[in-house]
Amino acid sequence: MDRPTKRILSGVQPSGDLHLGNYLGAIKNFVALQEEYECFFCVVDLHAITVWQDPKVLANKTREVTAAFIASGIDPKKNNIFVQSQVPQHAQLAWLFNCIARMGWLNRMTQFKDKAGKNSENVSVGLFSYPTLMAADILIYLATHVPVGDDQKQHLELTRDIAQKFNNDFKTDFFPIPEPLIFGQATRVMSLRDGSKKMSKSDPSDYSRIMLTDTADNIAQKIKKAKTDPQPLPSTKEDLKQRPEAENLISIFASLQNSSIENVISEYAGKEFSDFKRDLIDLSVSKLGPITTEMNKLMTDTSYIDSILNDGKDRAINVAEPVLTKTKEIIGFLS
Ligand code: AMP
Ligand code: TRP
Repeated sequence: MDRPTKRILSGVQPSGDLHLGNYLGAIKNFVALQEEYECFFCVVDLHAITVWQDPKVLANKTREVTAAFIASGIDPKKNNIFVQSQVPQHAQLAWLFNCIARMGWLNRMTQFKDKAGKNSENVSVGLFSYPTLMAADILIYLATHVPVGDDQKQHLELTRDIAQKFNNDFKTDFFPIPEPLIFGQATRVMSLRDGSKKMSKSDPSDYSRIMLTDTADNIAQKIKKAKTDPQPLPSTKEDLKQRPEAENLISIFASLQNSSIENVISEYAGKEFSDFKRDLIDLSVSKLGPITTEMNKLMTDTSYIDSILNDGKDRAINVAEPVLTKTKEIIGFLS
């Protein structure tokens, strides 16, 4: 079995419409990394069903994430794009990891606490053990690097703890300790309605997020309505500290423009938000419009998308199966 030194695994849930946070925090970085790393990009439908998903739309959401990957510039020939539920080794390794991870570790996960809220007695068991499946997604490929948005940092620390405990318990160095890759100007994109809340698929307000399926008009409306404060744009990065909405819009601008927050600040220092927003609308439409158009085009030919996923599945299984076999052997299962 080869032991890669530069292998990426990352996952995106088909649980709703992809938004600017998914794009700037994750997918845009995947595109940048594909030259340097061997990549596995997974549509994580097993994670999606930790909360209710309508069976009538789930398959198409799964294709839509795939289309977003390709439309954003991920080359499906060079990279492995596949669906989590089609590679059974993920769920099998997740069970083994359920027996490695400790209740106390999972009890500390802030994403679970946020998602469960006051309802923690009534959420699925899957939502609680979600991070052990994520660890399995990564380690079933012996992945060394994991590009994600900032919100996934804690889950990655847990993945590292699981790999370490497994290695310690069984006196082996079989699993690598994967490194998070969290980079760019927008690792945590915030809601357009409230700069203290993450932009998310589950926010009830459509105006809180720009979606990859939005038209130019939708984008313009959402940015025009985005919350700001009454002051003009700041002249130093320091001045952004107590201004979460301004900070968010400037980070989005910098990330879309592939420039830095400092550059954007120096360009707009002292200007009014109305001017800045006008330019942000133009920039967003020019960067996201072509992706949306390509996604729509890809979605008209589901057989093409399904063939990519089918290929990806075969390649993923080829890598995952020997890792699962070896893990079972280390544990002492009869082969
Ligand atoms: P999810 O939609 O939860 O499957 O997330 C897919 C990827 O997008 C993960 O790498 C997340 O960390 C990233 N992501 C989700 N929301 C945001 C956000 N608001 N800002 C930056 N990255 C995000
Ligand atoms: N938990 C991630 C999210 O919600 C999605 C995910 C599942 C993932 N498995 C993964 C990300 C493996 C990176 C690696 O954003």
